[in-house]
Amino acid sequence: MAIIEELRAKLPAWVEASRAIAVEGQVASYIPELAKAPREALGITILSPDGEIVSAGETELLFTMQSISKVFTLMLAFMDNGEEGVFAKVGMEPTGDDFNSMLKLELVEPGKPFNPLINAGAIAISSLIHGSTPAAKVERILAFFGEVAGGAALSVNADVFRSESATAHRNRSLAYFLKDNEVLGEEIDVEEVLSVYFQHCAIEITCGQLARMALVLALGGADPVSGQQLIPRRYVQIAKAFMIMCGMYNASGEFAIKVGIPAKSGVSGGILALVPGRYGIGVIGPALGPKGNSTAGVHLLETMSASLDWSVF
Ligand code: DON
Repeated sequence: MAIIEELRAKLPAWVEASRAIAVEGQVASYIPELAKAPREALGITILSPDGEIVSAGETELLFTMQSISKVFTLMLAFMDNGEEGVFAKVGMEPTGDDFNSMLKLELVEPGKPFNPLINAGAIAISSLIHGSTPAAKVERILAFFGEVAGGAALSVNADVFRSESATAHRNRSLAYFLKDNEVLGEEIDVEEVLSVYFQHCAIEITCGQLARMALVLALGGADPVSGQQLIPRRYVQIAKAFMIMCGMYNASGEFAIKVGIPAKSGVSGGILALVPGRYGIGVIGPALGPKGNSTAGVHLLETMSASLDWSVF
């Protein structure tokens, strides 16, 4: 049986088996608006470069990208500033700490975030996106994400944005700490940077759109339909290296061993994953485990990777 047919035949049962794991997780509630998500939901879409689509579960769910957006703001920041400009503000190493941790900002000189996927690093990256106002920056981010998602008209969920902005004491303190460390320079308004960061985290998406974005990464930055290079290949390489090292927060080592593909999760329960050259994958399962990853989503990816031999290692 062709692999895609095998996937199509087996996916519904795999989704139902993984859905049972969702009860072990909790929907994120530190952003109050996210607590409304359905805890037992699980949906997945897999896209191949030749246009095959395989889906199962609640793929119609709209959810916010949260930390998944950080992979794409990183690539836009590279396109705006080059490698040197970006790596002047963030490092290249995983932290092993929680995604919202402050610890190493103070502990390790020179107070620069270790990588662009932890909150401190992503806030620094938001400050690098070109645009004369926060609204102009968010417009550019939406246009770029929409293009990578296959021409989708994406928008910010205003309720989630406001809900996070009103309760983000930890992110606010991280950002002011970065200002004090001069990672955010003299000319930078911290609240404006935070506004851009909260808005890109609150961009709404479906599994299918995430899968399309993932497929572009799987193809080294090329659009699967037009073949146009949407993102320079070098920046996609760097983003994928970060996804392997720290895309699943401080569970990235376990994920690399058990699943073995580049992936990025968000606290809404979304996961973007890819099998290089072969598939773009979008998953949503709002119930999270202790490290902030979708319990059912990770279980499903583990099952698929083991059955279909997806590990890149
Ligand atoms: O900043 C936050 O806490 C959320 N907007 C995003 C967090 C998330 O998805 C996990 N971060 N690595």
